Amino acid sequence: MIGFFDRLARPLLRAFDPEDAHSFAIKGLKLAPRFPRRSDDPRLAVRAFGLNFPNPIGIAPGFDKHAEVPDALLRLGFGFVEIGTVTPLPQAGNPRPRIFRLEPDEAVINRLGFNSAGEAVVLSRLAARAEQGGIVGVNVGANKESPDRTADYIRLIEAVAPVASYVTVNISSPNTPGLRSMQQASVLDDLLARVVETRDRVKARAGDTPVLLKIAPDVTLSELDDIVGIARAREIDGMIVGNTTIGRPPFLKDRVTSKEAGGLSGKPLFALSTRMLAETYVRVEGAFPLVGVGGIDSGEAALAKIRAGADVLQLYSALVFKGLGLIADIKRELVDALDRGDAPALSDLVGADAASVTAEPWPN
Ligand SMILES: Cc1cc2nc3c(=O)[nH]c(=O)nc-3n(C[C@H](O)[C@H](O)[C@H](O)COP(=O)(O)O)c2cc1C
Repeated sequence: MIGFFDRLARPLLRAFDPEDAHSFAIKGLKLAPRFPRRSDDPRLAVRAFGLNFPNPIGIAPGFDKHAEVPDALLRLGFGFVEIGTVTPLPQAGNPRPRIFRLEPDEAVINRLGFNSAGEAVVLSRLAARAEQGGIVGVNVGANKESPDRTADYIRLIEAVAPVASYVTVNISSPNTPGLRSMQQASVLDDLLARVVETRDRVKARAGDTPVLLKIAPDVTLSELDDIVGIARAREIDGMIVGNTTIGRPPFLKDRVTSKEAGGLSGKPLFALSTRMLAETYVRVEGAFPLVGVGGIDSGEAALAKIRAGADVLQLYSALVFKGLGLIADIKRELVDALDRGDAPALSDLVGADAASVTAEPWPN
């Protein structure tokens, strides 16, 4: 069923402006029949951040920014969904066009700038589906015009904790001016101290809500030393590596579109984001699990991320080019790897290649 609609819809959607195509996809998912979720091979189950993932493949934030279709996405076979980025107040984001496809590169550039329906709308949607189960994380961000960005994160964690499986503190979007400077040690230490204090304070009424930090793949290794050091000292629950890159690898084929401002995602992000994942893994030394994201478009790429240090994975851009059938393909390839005898369980592969990846020449 999925395969049929997918093959039909994909060429049609690709004929539209990327943001219009995305709106059609969301509308389609809202109307999709509510067939029951097929259960996953039990060997794909992963436990991380105190949560039980039926499989390690999640949909990255940016696809369902306003929590319109989390349950449809879970029914499609994702092991978890991260909605957002959500800001406290609604905001429009940057003027259109602001999403661009680089077809020959299987890449996307976006400069959406945290277009958000805002906390109140998203909260009511999540509250309405709270009994549905499934892992739904909430990615939170600051309003562009906020006088106190740290306060925005704190307020959002307090608000969403009762309806979120986990919360991601996103300080790595390249499209809100100055946001990524919150990754600097002095700002980050204060932010994470308050984030963790909030997580612990809301526990009594909201239960355990793991808090993850999503970083940019563009930080330097000495910045990464500081970030991981602070994350460990403040005892956050995990990190997501990472967001889109402001870099433009020299091998990009679409020389015209690649000049658009914004964050690059998809296949050309794979090497850099996987290197940063491995660099993070060796610094974290098992203190908390990692989410690997950036350019995953096959079972092979998913396995490489796990071997570089990820317990669970997220993807977005490859869906644009490969369609929804990709989720089942990746899960099948992960099971095949276990059948082949790569390891008894996926968890045995986590970080197996981290040291060797960090020894390779720096990727373009
Ligand atoms: C159109 C678009 C919108 C995005 N919006 C967000 C966002 O709101 N918050 C966020 O943390 N990441 C956002 N991302 C980044 C993705 O979550 C992910 O980190 C990145 O795209 C790399 O994964 P991919 O190569 O599989 O797409 C967005 C990505 C795209 C392509």
